[in-house]
Amino acid sequence: KVDKKLDVIIIGAAIVDLPLRPVSKEVFDVVSYPVDGITMTIGGDALNESTIITRLGHRVGLMSCIGVDVPGWFVIDHCKSNNIDTTYIKQDPEKVTSINVGLVAADGERTFITNRQGSLWKFCYEDLDMSALKDARILSFASIFNNPLFDNKALVSVFSKAKEEGMIICADMVSPKLDEKLEDIREALGYIDYFFPNFEEACELTGETEEDRVADVIYNCGVKNVIMKIGKRGCYIRNAEGSMIVPACKGVTAIDTIGAGDNFASGFITALLEGKELRECAVYANCTAAVSVQYVGATGGVKNKQMVDDMLAKYREDYKQQINE
Ligand code: ADP
Ligand code: NA
Repeated sequence: KVDKKLDVIIIGAAIVDLPLRPVSKEVFDVVSYPVDGITMTIGGDALNESTIITRLGHRVGLMSCIGVDVPGWFVIDHCKSNNIDTTYIKQDPEKVTSINVGLVAADGERTFITNRQGSLWKFCYEDLDMSALKDARILSFASIFNNPLFDNKALVSVFSKAKEEGMIICADMVSPKLDEKLEDIREALGYIDYFFPNFEEACELTGETEEDRVADVIYNCGVKNVIMKIGKRGCYIRNAEGSMIVPACKGVTAIDTIGAGDNFASGFITALLEGKELRECAVYANCTAAVSVQYVGATGGVKNKQMVDDMLAKYREDYKQQINE
């Protein structure tokens, strides 16, 4: 077994978030609108995932594109201080780093204001250095549809190269931005070993509404393991052996579910790297997400591996009864 430089390569968005809260619908009626605080935070599915997996103890290379601008340097600075490998981040003077301004109402309702010329929209296959793929065991494509220029053709190019290098391929998705359909990515799905859509996204993609039907349709596209997130119930898994639900952590009070999915993927990938069985990977994913939802922000919850391991110990205790029955 050759020792690789990295454990995971993550492809996807690395942006800056500006959450503003609380903001009400009357914001335009006044000249000045004070909020409780305005701070820049890092965001983007790939950057969130890179941050959490690094905190869980593994070596991550982030593949993304940003501009040569203040938010771009903010992203680089975060990566450097968090030990995320920046070798494969393309800083492009022609691009503007995406900023996501979040208007959050007191009741949690939210709207995001995004730049349609931002790096998230301009990130493309040509920005990738494919020679990087030999450096890691797992490839995570943070979210299909999040960077719209990664269409089926681009995804197949990346995934087939990853398979040549013997990598395990993981991917998540977001809702299509350009009204893409299942048919548009069917071929790319066939390369994925572990796919982490949430139930709502999976329904939208498949046009189905029943859990088992939704998962079957995706499985029949060639995904080896469909790991569908089902919120506070945990996740629904479908593979060649059949299907099972791996329940979520009990007694969790969710205060912010932003980034729960990114944390779920991070926990799952961490467990895969540690050689755990499928069910154990799903348990670890649930525990990582459960820590995350109890804190504000996508990377505000999981600060170190101990927090997730403590949640895992509680999980085992809470479910001991049931396992013994
Ligand atoms: P997404 O964030 O992608 O929309 P979900 O809302 O399904 O995905 O949540 C992702 C994961 O977060 C779930 O699979 C589960 O493990 C965990 N989770 C979410 N809400 C709760 C909750 N109330 N209690 C415990 N775990 C939760
Ligand atoms: Na998600």
